[in-house]
Amino acid sequence: VSGSKAFSDPLSVIAAEMTNLTNNIRNLLGSTHPNLDTAAKYYVQSQGKHIRPLLVLLMSQAVLTAPKSERNEQRYNVDESLSPLDILRDFNPTNIMSTITTTVSRPPTVATKAAAVDEETGILPSQRRLAEITEMIHAASLLHDDVIDEAELRRGNLSGNSAFGNKMAILAGDFLLARASVALARLRNAEVTELISTVIANLVEGEVMQLKNTAPEDAVTGVATPATFDYYLEKTYLKTASLISKSCRSAAVLAGAREDVIESAYQYGRNLGIGFQLVDDLLDYTVTESDLGKPAGADLQLGLATAPALFAWKQHSELGPMIRRKFSQPGDVEKSRKLVAESDGVEKTRQLAKDYCDNAREAIASFPDSSAKDALIDMTVTVLNRNK
Ligand code: FPP
Ligand code: MG
Ligand code: MG
Repeated sequence: VSGSKAFSDPLSVIAAEMTNLTNNIRNLLGSTHPNLDTAAKYYVQSQGKHIRPLLVLLMSQAVLTAPKSERNEQRYNVDESLSPLDILRDFNPTNIMSTITTTVSRPPTVATKAAAVDEETGILPSQRRLAEITEMIHAASLLHDDVIDEAELRRGNLSGNSAFGNKMAILAGDFLLARASVALARLRNAEVTELISTVIANLVEGEVMQLKNTAPEDAVTGVATPATFDYYLEKTYLKTASLISKSCRSAAVLAGAREDVIESAYQYGRNLGIGFQLVDDLLDYTVTESDLGKPAGADLQLGLATAPALFAWKQHSELGPMIRRKFSQPGDVEKSRKLVAESDGVEKTRQLAKDYCDNAREAIASFPDSSAKDALIDMTVTVLNRNK
C-alpha cells in the first residue's frame, strides 16, 4: 500500500499496545485514597501474562484483516451495511445525564468508526478500552479468588490478601469492577455492555459451582460419568472461558463485524478459554511452586477435583469417596495425588486441552489471512505448551 509503513511484525505493534495498556489501566484506577490506590493497582502492575487483552487486540485486528499493509480493499469480514451511525446507535445522552452527577464532566461522544480506527494497527479506541476492561475484570477476580482460596502467593509475589489483608483485597476488587463498569459504560454499546456484564455474573456462578461441587456421579458404580465431566466443563466455561469468549466476541461487535464473524470470534475464545483452564488444571499436578509462581498442588488441598482427578477416578474408584469428602481426611490429598500420578489423568487432560485448542484454531479458519490471524493461531499452541 503506497505511503504506508512496511508492517511485518504485528506482535511488535501489539507489544507497544500492551505497554500502553498497563499505563491506561493505572489511570483508570486512580483513587485519592492511597491505600485503595495501591491495592487496586497491585495486580495490574505485577507481571501477568495479559492473555485476555492480547486476545482482544489480536481479534480486533483479525476481524478487520489486520494491519494496513495487509488490509484488503474490500474488508469482507465487516458488515458493510452498518453505517457509522449504527456504531453510535446506543448513544443516548438522556440516560447518561441521569446517571452522572454534575461534578463529573460529560464524556465525549464516541468518534465515528471511520475516523477513529488506528491506521497502523486497525484497532479502534473502543477495542483498546475493551482490552483494558477485560484485564481489570480479570485482576478483580484474582483479588477475590485469592481471598477465597487463602492463597499466599500470586505471580511469585505476595498475593493481594497477604499484602493488604482480606478486607482491603475484597474492596480493591470491587473498586476494579466499578471502574471497569464506568469504562464499559463509556463504550456506549449496549450489546457489549450486556456481554461483559454477563461475564461478571458468569465468574461468580463458576466460582460457586466450584465451591459447592455437586458433580453428578454414577448412582450404581459411584464413578465419574459423562455428566461429571459436563459439570466440570460448564464450571470451566463460566470461571475462565466466559471472559475470554465474550471479550473476543465484543471485539468483533465493536468492529461492526458480520454476524458469522462475531460467532467465530466467540467460538475461538470459548474453545481457547476452556483449553487454557484445562492446562491450568494439569499444571497444578505437574509443575513446582517456584515455576508456577503460586502454590502447586493447590487444587486437592482446596478440595477440588479437576480434570486429572476426574479422569483418574474412572480408573481408580477409590478416589470417589475422597472426592466426595473433598479430600478432607488426613492422607486424602497424598493418596489422591499418588492415584492421579498412577493414572493417565494428566495425559488425558492434555489431550482434551489439545482438542479444545484445535477447535479454537478451526473456529477462525475462514478468517482472511493476516498476521493477526497467525498470532491467534500461535496462541492456541502457546496455551497448550505453556508451563506456568
Ligand atoms: C482463578 O481460578 C479464578 C477465576 C478464574 C475466577 C474467580 C472468580 C471469582 C472469585 C468470582 C468473583 C468475580 C469477580 C469479577 C470479582 P483458580 O483459583 O483456579 O486459579 P489460580 O490458581 O490462579 O488461583
Ligand atoms: Mg485460586
Ligand atoms: Mg480459585
